[in-house]
Amino acid sequence: MKKVTIRDVMKKYKKGERIVMVTAYDYSFARLVDQAGVDMILVGDSLGMVVLGYPSTNQVTMEDMVSHVAAVARANPRAMIVGDMPFGSYEASNEEAVRNAVALIRAGAEAVKLEGGREIAERVRAIVNAGIPVMGHLGLTPQKRHILGGYRLRGKTEEEVQEMIEDAKALEEAGAFSIVLEFVKSEAAKRITESVNIPTICIGAGPHCSGQVLVIHDILGLAPFSPPFAKKYFDCANAIVKAVKEFAEEVREGKFPGEEHSF
Ligand code: KIV
Ligand code: NA
Repeated sequence: MKKVTIRDVMKKYKKGERIVMVTAYDYSFARLVDQAGVDMILVGDSLGMVVLGYPSTNQVTMEDMVSHVAAVARANPRAMIVGDMPFGSYEASNEEAVRNAVALIRAGAEAVKLEGGREIAERVRAIVNAGIPVMGHLGLTPQKRHILGGYRLRGKTEEEVQEMIEDAKALEEAGAFSIVLEFVKSEAAKRITESVNIPTICIGAGPHCSGQVLVIHDILGLAPFSPPFAKKYFDCANAIVKAVKEFAEEVREGKFPGEEHSF
């Protein structure tokens, strides 16, 4: 099947078809989520928490992102690969932002994602001018959790909604091709979605968005903890523990390896 590009994403958006994004961080998972037919694979910095065991996303480095984007890219998915720009990789200057976005593209990403609104619009423009599609990220922006005062639901006051609408418009104006809205009140996400002409991809922001994204570890029941807005479609954690217990038992009882696995 044909590779998904930003043109396909925009086509779906214009037709009113919902866009599907899911995270993946390595070769095996990228192959599987791609077989499931998602539109975009996000190599998110959530990688830090669900794969690398860091306390937050703030510890994730460019080296981590490059390594995992490259692993996902080796799966050669049909879905478009979006690479998260980690904390510290785009704040200091346009030059550094472009250099790091280029590194993610070289690793195999086909777009990058940055957290923030008006304050990073200049960065978004610089990266887009380098020929790299940019996805924005508003609402709960986990990299900025210290200044937000924790992982709070956004869009509870009219002032917050207006701020996010201004941010969304600034991102669109700077050339972003879509915007993630994370943990935003449904009604606020609806108004933000209506205020721009690019798709909003939501997580914990209600149904009135152009698309939805979830972390694969939350979908599969693999995460040590999941946010309240994530839906668990499978209890993979228990399936893994059960399978490995069976293996351990068979080894201890001398049942494995049997004839068919011995040469
Ligand atoms: O890192 C991530 O997985 C994300 C999604 C939650 C949008 O940024
Ligand atoms: Na992220």
